[in-house]
Amino acid sequence: MRLAGRTAIVTGGAGGIGRATSLAFAAEGARVAVVDLQQEAAEAVADEIRAAGGEAIAIAADVSSEPDVQAAVAATVEAFGGIDVAFNNAGIIRRTTAVETTVEEWDRVFGVNVRGIFLMCKHVVPVMAEAGAGSIINTGSGWGLKGGGQAISYCASKGAVVNMTRALAIDHGPQGIRVNSVNPGDVDTGMLRDEARQLGQETGSFLAEAADRPLRRMGQPTEIAAAVVWLASDESSYVTGSALVVDGGGIA
Ligand code: NAI
Repeated sequence: MRLAGRTAIVTGGAGGIGRATSLAFAAEGARVAVVDLQQEAAEAVADEIRAAGGEAIAIAADVSSEPDVQAAVAATVEAFGGIDVAFNNAGIIRRTTAVETTVEEWDRVFGVNVRGIFLMCKHVVPVMAEAGAGSIINTGSGWGLKGGGQAISYCASKGAVVNMTRALAIDHGPQGIRVNSVNPGDVDTGMLRDEARQLGQETGSFLAEAADRPLRRMGQPTEIAAAVVWLASDESSYVTGSALVVDGGGIA
């Protein structure tokens, strides 16, 4: 029970990695606010946590909207009395080159992946600062560190997540707040299937390609969740500003 008595807010909490992490947080004793664009799916995750004996609420919100983020943070504080852990994980991908990417698509990817994390931090940090402690984990990507093909807006946005995380760690470390990024390789979620669709590739061969790495398989959402639980817990008490890579050895 590494998170007993703590409150966690998880964005993209209804998706593959967000759901697995919400469940893992709850299994470690945390109260969880499951935030997602998809209300029903978020409710289902909160239901799952409650059915297992935990405490959870579901909140429908678009992380790129400041009023939505403010309301989500306020609802979490009202329900549970504070926020100890924020997993800023909502993200989207567009599999296009610079030439193919429209300005609207570029802005949407940055709106969710970058502005979403900025807004969450803007509103969560004061809550954590008042308590004098907190752990923020932002979801980057292996492609935020090394780049990747046909995903220019995504790669740029995830690079921003990694460096924004370092900047946040510098600014808010003195307030007792740790900020780290978790950077997955290919993980078996809806996002990968959506990528296959966007690229017009057959899902099976796309997923087989995703498994082409030293450990010879894709990651599972629970394997990212395990790393996030560690970053959320006091076990990582001297870790901040780091970019933790969890990718089965997906080195270039
Ligand atoms: P997913 O598509 O299964 O889940 C993403 C969730 O975010 C969905 O539930 C979606 O409704 C929610 N979401 C999207 N836009 C939102 C918004 N504006 N406001 C609130 N919620 C929103 O994807 P997955 O794989 O679980 O991705 C989670 C994070 O992990 C993302 O940031 C993604 O970029 C990152 N990631 C995923 C990898 C993978 O291979 N699956 C690899 C590297 C990073």
